[in-house]
Amino acid sequence: MHFSPLSYHDGSLLFEGRPVETLLNNIKTPFYFYGEKTLLQYARHFKDEAKKHLPIPAQIHYALKANSNIELLKILQAENLGADVVSGAELQRALDAGIPAHKIVFSGVGKRDDEIQLALKSNILSLNVESLEELKVIDAIAAQQKATAQIAFRLNPNIAGNTHEKISTGSMQHKFGMPKEEILSAVEELHRYSHVKLIGLSCHIGSQLSSLKESQLAFQELCSLIKLCAQKLNTTFEFIDFGGGLGVPYRPLEESELSSLEEYMKMVSQVAESVLIGERLVKKVLFEPGRFIVAKAGALVSKVLFRKTNQQKNFLICDAAMNDLLRPTLYQAYHHIWSTSEASKTISYDVVGPICETGDTFCKDRPLSERLKRGDLLLFSDAGAYGRSMSSSYNLREIPEEYLLRPDGSIVKI
Ligand code: LLP
Repeated sequence: MHFSPLSYHDGSLLFEGRPVETLLNNIKTPFYFYGEKTLLQYARHFKDEAKKHLPIPAQIHYALKANSNIELLKILQAENLGADVVSGAELQRALDAGIPAHKIVFSGVGKRDDEIQLALKSNILSLNVESLEELKVIDAIAAQQKATAQIAFRLNPNIAGNTHEKISTGSMQHKFGMPKEEILSAVEELHRYSHVKLIGLSCHIGSQLSSLKESQLAFQELCSLIKLCAQKLNTTFEFIDFGGGLGVPYRPLEESELSSLEEYMKMVSQVAESVLIGERLVKKVLFEPGRFIVAKAGALVSKVLFRKTNQQKNFLICDAAMNDLLRPTLYQAYHHIWSTSEASKTISYDVVGPICETGDTFCKDRPLSERLKRGDLLLFSDAGAYGRSMSSSYNLREIPEEYLLRPDGSIVKI
């Protein structure tokens, strides 16, 4: 089930049921626009499905990299979501938003010493360790700080997620996680590391995953590994962490091709049954969704600057560019474009930004209303995740500002 804030009613564009033209016409474009209602729908949907299908409690650690705006984080924090962070600055942002340290995990292959120090000082739930060398460094820093580092090993299951090559993470070709054998030998040597405590295992094989099969295989590996680790250490664990990665539909009609959250939770429950209920090896299930929580809640709002036609192409030049929304350039990602008036007849446009390289193209040959003209609003939908968080000031352009539509209809700059 998905929730889109955008729809047409009687030919005019609505965002969470309110007319876009009156809402947004006076805000300087380009900017990001989010709907609190939609954000809450996704946070609650995730919690509800986890509760419905899993036999033990789940904690949702929202992946800040998708969107780290503090006001959005506060909304998610109030829904009891925790955080998955990948830098010291993200960790600090999560804490500033009021997310308690015991609901924060820190992932990533390259944590700096000062970031590890901050994580230990803050007493976060877990540092998710991705190499033996990192384990040694965490142990040494924890010893210096007279602390015990709670850690989880991140498994590299050698199963690549079925997605764009730049965001697939689960195979030995990728820099992430540790092979099963390495984790098992680290577990045997754990007594040498007196300042770390292993409290869980994690796995994340990619983002925008389009099928469940690979996750299912990876989770089976993770569950068999947790059994072996529990046997070796004669203990049980605080958590098993299934990472993020659930895909969302970007193209019209794509929803039917993707696995639903419900199917995902059923799969997790079935794969992990013996770990969760049979042998009761863990107390909690963790998830790290980013995109699934925020993607649909946000749009990038832009204005048409110029139209231009040559012998081969119709170009629609808008005031947003690849620095504002990088995904189409970097991953050839599709973002559906909504214009303020519904199209009766269409023209095929290449929608491009003002930046001085050909890669600054949002899409090619996209059918859009033939009535589009200078000054009209264009909304790039499903841009709540990895939109603003990947923006830059290339060409000395301003980083786009962000606005939030509250459920009462008011708009705040966030
Ligand atoms: N956990 C870990 C360890 C991750 O590396 C990621 C994403 C997540 C969780 C959240 O994954 P999600 O639920 O959002 O798929 N910039 C790319 C996506 C990069 C994802 C990186 N890691 C894009 O725009 O598609």
